[in-house]
Amino acid sequence: MKQIINVRLNTRNVDFSRCKTDVLVVGVFSDAKKLDSLNAQLDKKLAGAIGRLIKLGDFKGADKTSAIVYGNEKIGARRILLVGLGEKDKATLDTLRKAAANAAKKSVEIKAKTVALALHKAFGKKFDLSAVGRACGEGTYFGSYIYDEYVTDSQNGRLGSLKVEVIEPDSGKLRQLKKGLTAGAIIGRAQSYARTLANRPGNVIYPATLAAAAKEVARGAKRLSCTVFDKKQLTEKGMGGILAVGSGSQHEPRLIILKYSPANNKAASKLPVVALVGKAVTFDSGGISIKPAANMDEMKLDKTGGIAVLATMKALAELELPIRVYGFIPSAENLPGGSSYRPGDIINTFCGKTVEVQNTDAEGRMILCDALAYAVKQKCEVIIDIATLTGACMVALGKHKAGLMGNDDELIRQLQKASEDSGEKVWHMPSGDEYAEEMKSKIADLKNIGSRWGGACTAAAFLRQFIGDAKWAHLDIAGMDQFQNPTEYSAVGSSGFGVRLMTTYLMNLINRKK
Ligand code: BES
Ligand code: ZN
Ligand code: ZN
Repeated sequence: MKQIINVRLNTRNVDFSRCKTDVLVVGVFSDAKKLDSLNAQLDKKLAGAIGRLIKLGDFKGADKTSAIVYGNEKIGARRILLVGLGEKDKATLDTLRKAAANAAKKSVEIKAKTVALALHKAFGKKFDLSAVGRACGEGTYFGSYIYDEYVTDSQNGRLGSLKVEVIEPDSGKLRQLKKGLTAGAIIGRAQSYARTLANRPGNVIYPATLAAAAKEVARGAKRLSCTVFDKKQLTEKGMGGILAVGSGSQHEPRLIILKYSPANNKAASKLPVVALVGKAVTFDSGGISIKPAANMDEMKLDKTGGIAVLATMKALAELELPIRVYGFIPSAENLPGGSSYRPGDIINTFCGKTVEVQNTDAEGRMILCDALAYAVKQKCEVIIDIATLTGACMVALGKHKAGLMGNDDELIRQLQKASEDSGEKVWHMPSGDEYAEEMKSKIADLKNIGSRWGGACTAAAFLRQFIGDAKWAHLDIAGMDQFQNPTEYSAVGSSGFGVRLMTTYLMNLINRKK
C-alpha cells in the first residue's frame, strides 16, 4: 500500500540552533516561570522573539496550542514551532506523543519538507530516552497522517514526503533516542496502515480483499504466515456464526488466520501463546434488523478491530518480538437480502453451542464467537478480542475510552498498563454472571441480545461463553474507531485504535519476563 505521505524518520547529531531545517520543534510548558535552557538559547539568537511572544500572551504553552516564530541569520532553522505541553507535573509520554503529532500535522499543513524535533529536551529528565524516542516516532506518524487516495486533485500542492529528524548534540543520548524512534516508526507505520485500510469503503474492502491485504502483509513480513478459510472451508468447519452474518451479501465471508512464530523460540517458550481476535464486518447495515439511514456510512469502519489485529501482527513481526502470537480475523458483510439470516434463526456455532438470533444487527458477536472458539481450540492461552461491538459502550464511555472486560485480573492490569503507556485509553467494565444470565435463550443455548440495559456488558458476557478456560480480555472500541472531525493532532476518519495498545501489551510482556 502506498504511504499517502511518505515519512522518513531519523536522528541527527547536530547543535539545536545550527540545524538547517524548515521547522525546528520545541516544547513549552504552560506553568514554566522562565524559558528552559534550549528555548533560552534560541531566544537569545532570535533577539528575544520567543520571550516577547510569551510575554504578550499570544502563546501560553497550553495543551493543544502552538505558535511559529521565524528564524534569522543566527539560526539554522527557517521556523521555530513552539508546541504547548500544558502543566509540567501532568505531562506524560502521551503529552509528548500528541505534541509530536501536533507538530507533524502543522508541518504538513505548511508544506514543510524537513522537520527537526527537539521535543525530547522537555521530557528527557522525567522519562527514559528510548521511551521518549518511541513516543516521538509514533506521534510523528499519527499527526502527519491524511487519507486522500480518492481525491483526484490531491496531487495539487500535496507534499510527497516529510523528512523528520530527532536532533541532539550529545551522541550518547542520541543512541538511546534512536532505539525508541526505530520501534516508534514501526508502530506508527503499522497504525497508519490500519487507518488507510479502515478508511477504504465497503465497495473496496470486503472479506476477500481484506484477506488479500492480510496475505500481502504476511508476504512482506518475516515469520508471519496467513491462511484464509473461504465459504467452503467455513462450512466444512461448522462456523455457522460467520456464515450466517455473511449470508446476505454477494461478498462471501472469510476467516483470516495469521501466525507469527519468532526466531527466538527459547525466549518465546516461557511466554503464553497469545491470540488477537478482531471483528472485521466490512460494512454493517444491520442486516434484516436494518439500521437507520443517518450516518450508516460510518459502518464501513466496523472492520477496524480486525484491521487493528492485522496491523499489530505486522508491527510485531517487524519488531521481531520473541513471543508466539496468532491473529484471527473473522470477516463478513452484514446486508439484508433474500439469503440473509433473520431474527428467529437458530445458528450452530463452531464449538457446538446454538444461538437464537433476535437481532441481526448484533452480528459482531456472531462472527467473534466462532473465531474465539477456534482460538481456544488452537490452544491459545491468552485471548484478546477487539471489536466495534456495541453502541451501548459508546453511550457509557463516550468517545474517550474503550470498554475493557475480561475474566483474569492480571490480564486486565496488564492491558491497563499498556493503555497508560500507549495513550490508547480503556476503562474496566463488568461482564460477569448476572449479565450472562440475560443472554440465555428459551429455545437455544444463547440468544444474541440482552435487555435494554448494559448492552456493552451483556455483549461481553455473550463472548465469555466461548472462551473456555483461557485468559480472556475484550476491548469494545465502538466510539474509538474514528475521529468524526479533525483535531489538532489527527486527521478525520479512522484512528487505528488498538494497534499501539496491543503492540505495547506484547512488548511489556517480553520486557517483564527478561
Ligand atoms: N457495529 C455496531 C456497533 C457500533 C455502533 C459501532 C456505533 C460503532 C458505532 C454493532 O454491530 C451493532 O449494531 N450493535 C448493536 C447491538 C444491539 C442490536 C444489541 C447496537 O449497539 O445497537
Ligand atoms: Zn450491527
Ligand atoms: Zn457491527
